[in-house]
Amino acid sequence: MSTPALRLSSVSRRFGALQAVRDVTFDVAPGERRAVIGPNGAGKTTLFNTICGDFPPSSGRIELFGLDITRARPHQRTRLGIGRTYQTSLLFNGLTVEQNLFVAVRGVQPHRWSVLRSGRDDPALAKARALAERVQLAPLLSERVLNLSHGQRRQLEIGMALAGDPKVLMLDEPAAGLSAGERPGLLAMLRTLPRSVTLILIEHDMDIALPASDIVTVMKDGEVVVEAAPDRIEDDPTVQAIYLGTGH
Ligand SMILES: Nc1ncnc2c1ncn2[C@@H]1O[C@H](COP(=O)(O)OP(=O)(O)OP(=O)(O)O)[C@@H](O)[C@H]1O
Ligand SMILES: [Mg+2]
Repeated sequence: MSTPALRLSSVSRRFGALQAVRDVTFDVAPGERRAVIGPNGAGKTTLFNTICGDFPPSSGRIELFGLDITRARPHQRTRLGIGRTYQTSLLFNGLTVEQNLFVAVRGVQPHRWSVLRSGRDDPALAKARALAERVQLAPLLSERVLNLSHGQRRQLEIGMALAGDPKVLMLDEPAAGLSAGERPGLLAMLRTLPRSVTLILIEHDMDIALPASDIVTVMKDGEVVVEAAPDRIEDDPTVQAIYLGTGH
């Protein structure tokens, strides 16, 4: 076995009396596609936040390619190869697709307007355009974000998360708010991501989560309750109990 891309060992997170994440342990292999599913409040985003460094776990250990990052700052994790999107969008609405990607490539905030006045041969600009291509937004480079559809915004967020060339890409509900017509495009795009990128996604839509993943982690009340291949998930009695309210 090679070193896991990500290793979670008994990761827990409390908010006061609330145990939002409880004793979560799993490995994600390099190149793996891992879906994390579970009902609202299950602790999925909190788990992501401990992995990305928004706050540390209350206890437990997180390793990225064998390196202990449990207490590392978010920017250190970014530098070490974690890229993420947020459940709530962080795009700059008044800027174009190209400018948003450019800002992400430069890793700066757009209030420093000077960074947006780039030379035509700026490598960051070339990279921004390549990212637009990768997330299927190349025809919309000059479009301002406020004119994009919901699905196009989600694509742009993924493009921005890819700007730092992450080894591990973490997407928090990439299909949230997408129309039925936009969903197959998102799935297709996720499938074009190279296996050099390990993918972990939180997703409520099973029509995306299952075909996009090699393995599915099901969380409930902060705990991992099922870990199984996607073709086993819908028939799993625990999953059925959670989603259909049978038993328990
Ligand atoms: N910063 C915080 N402070 C206090 N409680 C929090 C905080 N973040 C999350 N929680 C609580 O932790 C629990 C898990 O929340 P979390 O957002 O991780 O769930 P989730 O699985 O992502 O849910 P959803 O599917 O609705 O996004 C919830 O009870 C939530 O209210
Ligand atoms: Mg969430």
